Amino acid sequence: MNGTVELIFDGKPLVLPTVVGTEGEVGIDIATLRAKTGCITLDPGYGNTGACESAITFIDGEKGILQYRGYDIAELAQKSTFVETAYLLIYGELPTSAQLAEFSGLLTDNEMLHEGMRHHFEGFPPTAHPMAILSSMINAASSYHPGLINAREERFPYHAARLISQVRTIAAFSYRKAHGLPSIYPKTTLKYTANFLHMMFSYPGEDCELKPEIVRALDLIFLLHADHEQNCSTSTVRMVASSRANLFASASAGVCALWGPLHGGANQAVLEMLEEIHKEGDDGTKFLTAVKDKTGNRRLMGFGHRVYKNFDPRAVIIKEQCDKVLAQLHVSDPLLDIAKKLEEIALHDEYFVSRKLYPNVDFYSGIIMRAIGIPMDMFTVLFAIGRMPGWIANFKEVMDDPDSRISRPRQIYTGATLRNYKPLAERA
Ligand code: CMC
Repeated sequence: MNGTVELIFDGKPLVLPTVVGTEGEVGIDIATLRAKTGCITLDPGYGNTGACESAITFIDGEKGILQYRGYDIAELAQKSTFVETAYLLIYGELPTSAQLAEFSGLLTDNEMLHEGMRHHFEGFPPTAHPMAILSSMINAASSYHPGLINAREERFPYHAARLISQVRTIAAFSYRKAHGLPSIYPKTTLKYTANFLHMMFSYPGEDCELKPEIVRALDLIFLLHADHEQNCSTSTVRMVASSRANLFASASAGVCALWGPLHGGANQAVLEMLEEIHKEGDDGTKFLTAVKDKTGNRRLMGFGHRVYKNFDPRAVIIKEQCDKVLAQLHVSDPLLDIAKKLEEIALHDEYFVSRKLYPNVDFYSGIIMRAIGIPMDMFTVLFAIGRMPGWIANFKEVMDDPDSRISRPRQIYTGATLRNYKPLAERA
């Protein structure tokens, strides 16, 4: 139940309203704080700041709970698919068979890029990181759809489906381009994840083998990444959307925010770290000592989370899946042994325990992707494909909110105070 809270400000009572979420978390609504006190709040990194009310995803970091629209992630991972989960996130309910068929049909109808877009790929150097290509090409795609103004218009379902479908085509094309391989067009007969693998690994006239266990493993990776409430990239998407920029522009900004190694780029950084440890013949012990000593500013990548302070439920599912996929493919990866050793040591080490640092979703996902044959620089691209429904759902929530205002934080200014302009000749 919403209520009020009484704080003491400058010796006087200050009454502020509270907002209580459906899972019981309480936020103090400070919308009137500046008007009442002349002060603003300061919360670098936003660890204590709720930027919005949202009905999409719930996380309880202390208990390791993650739910999409009220459904537990473990149950969705077991029973649902990425496409069905995407529908759930965007539209709020699990689809009926007719709704799912319609949604899948829209994904298929929109899987082809505008032919003109193929020329844009030629402009990138062969060394371009696929995340650079992805964000540029998503934005470029918006120029081929001039009707793409905002989500309130009735064509939102088409734009949403187009984006979910085309992000996968762009991703596969960027991989093919980077490796000097011919682009493979999507096949209308294939489902979402199988189609992505087809575009990645087939050759003209020679379709790749689509092993069901691999398709399922990748579909699960997409599903587990599909949303994660107000993380850095989703907040970016909402921030851009708040200015009423279009869906593609907002999603393109989300890709850029995701790229960094503290966020989605961690999956690539984990593999790079494991490879380095392996190359040095270390079993992880030496590396962890350096992390704890903070020499060289190293972090144990794939560990720690701003919200999860117990365990990341996605990491538990992915670790299990990792063992399964490697066994099914008869792959023995020394990097998996190093990862397990690092985890084992860290989970019993005072440094990590006292800081509540546990494996996150990125710790084992890269090992699965590597076993499937996905190159390392594509890992974060796959994260972006998975996260697209979450970004779209958040974009829609911003657009559907009649009270939504442009996001515009304030600051505490710490620069020079007013001074006079000095002509160039007088400057030292
Ligand atoms: N290895 C070593 N020390 C760490 C790590 C780590 N992975 N993460 C946090 N710490 C330490 C940090 O040095 C600090 O120590 P001290 O108190 O001595 O200064 C303390 O723990 C708190 O760290 P923080 O940077 O204030 O924590 P944060 O909540 O701002 O950062 C994080 C969260 C995820 C960015 C961070 O844990 C990290 O850099 N992890 C490694 C990168 C990573 O795996 N990112 C993927 C996150 S999950 C996927 C996603 O959603 O993006």
